[in-house]
Amino acid sequence: MKKTVRDVEVEGKRVLVRVDFNVPLAEGQVTDDTRIRAALPTIDYLLDHGAKVILMSHLGRPKGKVVDELRLDPVAERLAELLGRPVGKLDDCVGREVEAAVAEMRPGDVILLENTRFHPEETSNDPAFATKLASLADIFVNDAFGAAHRAHASTVGVTEHLPSVAGFLMEKEITFLGQALAAPHHPFVALLGGAKISSKIGVIDKLLTTVDGLLIGGGMANTFFKAQGQGVGQSLVEDDSLDVASETLERAGDRLVLPVDVVVADRFDAEANLKVVPVGQVPADWLILDIGPETVELYKQKLAGARTVVWNGPMGVFEFPRFAEGTFAIARFLADLEAITIVGGGDVVAAVGQAGVADRIAHVSTGGGASLEFLEGKSLPGIAALEDK
Ligand code: 3PG
Repeated sequence: MKKTVRDVEVEGKRVLVRVDFNVPLAEGQVTDDTRIRAALPTIDYLLDHGAKVILMSHLGRPKGKVVDELRLDPVAERLAELLGRPVGKLDDCVGREVEAAVAEMRPGDVILLENTRFHPEETSNDPAFATKLASLADIFVNDAFGAAHRAHASTVGVTEHLPSVAGFLMEKEITFLGQALAAPHHPFVALLGGAKISSKIGVIDKLLTTVDGLLIGGGMANTFFKAQGQGVGQSLVEDDSLDVASETLERAGDRLVLPVDVVVADRFDAEANLKVVPVGQVPADWLILDIGPETVELYKQKLAGARTVVWNGPMGVFEFPRFAEGTFAIARFLADLEAITIVGGGDVVAAVGQAGVADRIAHVSTGGGASLEFLEGKSLPGIAALEDK
């Protein structure tokens, strides 16, 4: 167990909090504030306990340069609305002006530093840069689960200089994902979708050591179909992963379940002609864009009675409304299931939100890559660097 904000005295202290405010923006507005809301319990706790709160985050991948579209000003605005108090937004994350602003802070004040990735020293975890960041504060709190798989100055470097503990979001992510990984309540069923087997093979391997069922959807199912010798028309297939798919099918046995019917389209387009066909009967010029209704029923049967469910990756191209039903039907079913339901990965989190059931899922992870690496059983550097209880 890692120490958390509860385990340190924060009153009157300068607390540097790494958050993951890497949120989608359009026309200078935050379009999905899930990650900002998810950090509020930690920020509120620190403010209620008389801390001076200095927040830092990356946004996008500016590659060590100042990119005006990736400034954190829209995030500061949204955060101020959510907190109901002003947020002092600075134009850099280190340097004299930042030091001066921090020196003037009083307990209960909130500052948001500028995008840490405007400095190349952030991603290279440069020790001098980490020292400068750390010099702003007395305590470091990492609440950026989404960036915990990155060994950067703001996630790992600073921990060499300051007492370093987890925030409440980090704690919640570790608790839910950690339990699913280490001691899941059985029956434990995992649902994996998304385009590629290659990006999920680590997770598949790890899950196969514990799951009672592994239900496959999305583009990755196509590679399994092809490995079984079934035609998939023009569907996306990872030919490099056919061997891996065959081995996985053999190792998993009847725990691994593939779709039995699919929704196919005559082109990759939201308005394409569509029809439902049994697997193995995909017309040569068509492509698979969703799981079919019989598969939805089959997957519901496999999920009924499960006590733990982990879901990563959509069942189809849900961005096209006519190919979203497989993903949304699963989302709705999970919302009503009496189980510890854990959903992770950007796409499927968005899908659960669009289906209107996010608040009926036990844990919606804020981590994309981080949640996958965690479920693979990898040690995440941003977590490993925090103090143990
Ligand atoms: C994410 O969105 O997954 C995290 O914020 C990490 O972003 P990155 O992949 O650019 O490091």
